Amino acid sequence: MAKRRSDDAARDEAAIPAGDLTAQQAADEIADLSARIAQANEDYHGKDKPQITDADYDTLKRRLSALEEAFPDLRAADSPTAKVGAAPAEGFGKVTHAQRMMSLGNAFDDEDVRDFVTRIRSFLNLPGDAPLDFTAEPKIDGLSLSLRYEDGELVQAATRGDGTVGENVTANARTISDIPQRLKADAPGIVEIRGEVYMAHDDFARLNAGDTGRVFANPRNAAAGSLRQLDPKITASRPLKFFAYSWGELTAPLAETQMGAVERLAELGFSTNPLTRLCRDAAGMIATWAEIEQQRATLGYDIDGVVYKVNDLGYQARLGFRSTTPRWAIAHKFPAETAWTRLDRIEIQVGRTGALSPVARLEPVTVGGVVVSNATLHNEDYIAGLDSAGNPIREGRDIRAGDWVKVYRAGDVIPKIADVDLSRRVSDTPYEFPTHCPECGSEAIREPGDSVRRCSGGLICPAQAIEKLKHFVSRSAFDIEGLGAKQIEMFFADDDLPIREPADIFTLAERDAANLPKLKNRDGFGERSVEKLFAAIEEKRCIPLARFLFALGIRHLGEVAGTTLARHFGTWEAMIAAIDGAAAEPAFAAGDDKARRTALEESPNWAELTGIDGIGAVLVQSLVTTFTQPRERESIDRLTSMLTILPAEAPANAQTAISGKTLVFTGTLERMTRAEAKARAEAMGAKVAGSVSAKTDLLIAGLGAGSKARKAADLGVETIDEDEWMRIAGQ
Ligand code: IVH
Repeated sequence: MAKRRSDDAARDEAAIPAGDLTAQQAADEIADLSARIAQANEDYHGKDKPQITDADYDTLKRRLSALEEAFPDLRAADSPTAKVGAAPAEGFGKVTHAQRMMSLGNAFDDEDVRDFVTRIRSFLNLPGDAPLDFTAEPKIDGLSLSLRYEDGELVQAATRGDGTVGENVTANARTISDIPQRLKADAPGIVEIRGEVYMAHDDFARLNAGDTGRVFANPRNAAAGSLRQLDPKITASRPLKFFAYSWGELTAPLAETQMGAVERLAELGFSTNPLTRLCRDAAGMIATWAEIEQQRATLGYDIDGVVYKVNDLGYQARLGFRSTTPRWAIAHKFPAETAWTRLDRIEIQVGRTGALSPVARLEPVTVGGVVVSNATLHNEDYIAGLDSAGNPIREGRDIRAGDWVKVYRAGDVIPKIADVDLSRRVSDTPYEFPTHCPECGSEAIREPGDSVRRCSGGLICPAQAIEKLKHFVSRSAFDIEGLGAKQIEMFFADDDLPIREPADIFTLAERDAANLPKLKNRDGFGERSVEKLFAAIEEKRCIPLARFLFALGIRHLGEVAGTTLARHFGTWEAMIAAIDGAAAEPAFAAGDDKARRTALEESPNWAELTGIDGIGAVLVQSLVTTFTQPRERESIDRLTSMLTILPAEAPANAQTAISGKTLVFTGTLERMTRAEAKARAEAMGAKVAGSVSAKTDLLIAGLGAGSKARKAADLGVETIDEDEWMRIAGQ
C-alpha cells in the first residue's frame, strides 16, 4: 500500500478505550470505520491505488475488532473483520485441467544433457546411428497458462495451479493482446494451447515507476500479480505478453513434430519464441544453449534456461510422463546468480519428521532481483565443510556466525550458500551443532549413515506436531481452505479450541458449538469466515486414499509413494491389514531391534510390501514403525474414525484390458525396452510388480524367461508372450 501516513490513523491510535464508549458512540464509530475499511479495500483491490499504509489499515481493523468485541450486538454480518486477512472474499473459480499441466525436470550441466539424450535413446531402444532430433527454446520466466478453444473460440483460460486444478482467469486472459479470441486458421474442434505469460523488462520498469502503489520484486511477480487480478480491467491495464509452446487436450494432432506444432501455433495466431532451434544431438543442444545464454541480457525479457524437447511427436507419445514431468523434455538451467552478504546467525528449525535443519539468517541482499535474507545450511556436515561422504566441500572451509558468505538462488528453491570468505572472518569459534532439540529439549540423535540429526521427542515435540499439522493441511494433502500454516499456529497455541493433532480438525465445529467464547467473535474471524471454514473442513471428510497417505506425513512417504500404495492396495483397510500383518510376527512384538527386524523381513507381508514396484524396504520399515507406535497409531485411528477414505481409482484413462491388474515382466523383450513396457502398462492403469506372487494377474514372459515363469505356472498365473503384450499395448 502507499507509504503516506494518514492523520486519521494517528487519531485512531489515541482513541478512547472501546469499553468506555456509549453504545451510540460505538455504533457511530463502527459505521465510520467500516466505511473507511471498505474504501481502503476498494482502493487496494479494485482500483489498485491504495491510499493508506498497511500499518494504518491494520490500525483501523484492530480498532473495529475492539469495538465489536466490546459491543457484540453491533457487529454487522458483513463486517470487514469477518474476512480473514485483507484478501478479497471471492476468489477465482477452479478449473480441472482436461490434461494435467506438467513441470519439467532440470539439467544443470552438459553431463546432465548427455544423460538425458542417452536415457531417451535407451528407453526407445534406438541404435546409436538412428536420428533423434530435439528442439531447443528459451525457458521463459513467467507463469504458465492453458487456453481452451472450442470451434476456434477462446472459451477458457486457466493457470497451472497444482497441475491438476488451476484458477479460472478467462476474463483476464482475454485482455492480453498476444492471446487471440479466435484462432486465425483452421484448427481441431478442441485445442488447448499452453504457454507462458510474462512481462518485458521495459514494461516492468514502467509499471514499477507508475502509480500502482506497489513495487514488484521482478517481472515474474509482476506478471503473476497482474494476471491474478479479480478485476479484469486491472489486468487489461498491465502490459502482459504470451508465448505459446505446448498444448493439452486436442481432438486432432497439430503436427507430426514439435517444430511443426510450433509453426502451427504461429499460424493459429500465437507468438512463438523466435529462438526455437532444431538440434541433432547433445552437442548441438549444448551449443544452442550457449548461444541463447549469450543473448540473455539483451532479449528484453527474463529467461532462466533452455528447454529441450524430443522433436518426433510419436516418440514423445511413447516416452510419456513420470508423475509430474515428461520423459521427453528437460530444462537446462542457466547458472544461478550469486551475491555476497554477512551471515548474522545460524538458527535451527525442527521439521515434521524431527529433522534439525540449520538456517542461515543473512543481512538482506538482492540476488537475481529478489531480496534474500535466509539460506539453507542443509545439515551439520555442510556447515563443517563436508559432504555426505565426509569429503571436503569449499575446500573444507566451515561456516560461522559473522562470516561473509556467497549466496545463490537457483529457480524458486530456497537460497543456498556456495562459499565463505575467510579473510573477513570475525569469530574464532566454529559453530556447534546442538545435540538436543531446541524446541522440546529431547535428545537429537544422528543415526549412523544419516546426515541429519533428529529430535527423538516424537509427538511430545511441539515443533514436530505443528509441522505435521501444517503438512496435513497443505495443498497436496487435505488442502482445507481457510486453514493454512498461519491458522494452524494459532489453533495449536490455543487453549480454548486447540488443534494439536489432525483428528482435532474434524472435531473443531463440534467443540466450538459447546464452547462459550465462540470462534466467530475472535479477531480475524467472523460469522461468515467461520461458517466457510467449517464447511471447508466438512468437505474434506471424504478424501482419496493416496492424498490421505501423503497427508499423514510419514517419513519417506511422498506423493508418488502414496499413489503407488493406494493403487496397489485399493483401500485403507487392505493396506493397514498388510502392515499389521508384517508387524504381527510374535518375534517382532517381543524381540530386540535386531530380532524385530529379522522377524519383519521374514513375514510374508514384508515380501508383498517390498515387492510393490517403487516401494523400498526403507519406506516399509518407516510405515511399520509408525503404525506400531501406540501413540501414533491411536492418533491415526482417531482420525480415520472420522473420515471416509475413498478407495483408489485407476488412472483417468481407465478401462483398458489391464487397468487395475498387477503385471510382472520377465525375460528379454525385443520390441520395447523394459522401461517403456512398464511406463506403458502404468499409463494403461496397471500396476507393475517386481516379483510373482498369488496377487499377480499377468506375467509377460520375454525370451529366456526362467524362475518367474515357473513360479507363475505353479501359481496358475496367466502368462503371455511379447506378441500378445504388443497387441494389448496397442503397438
Ligand atoms: S514445456 C509438458 N516450454 O517451465 C511440458 N515450459 O519448469 C510443459 N516454461 O511449467 C512445459 N518456458 O511454465 C515448456 N519453452 C517452454 C517453457 C516452459 C517456460 C515453464 C512452464 C513449466 C515450467 C517447468
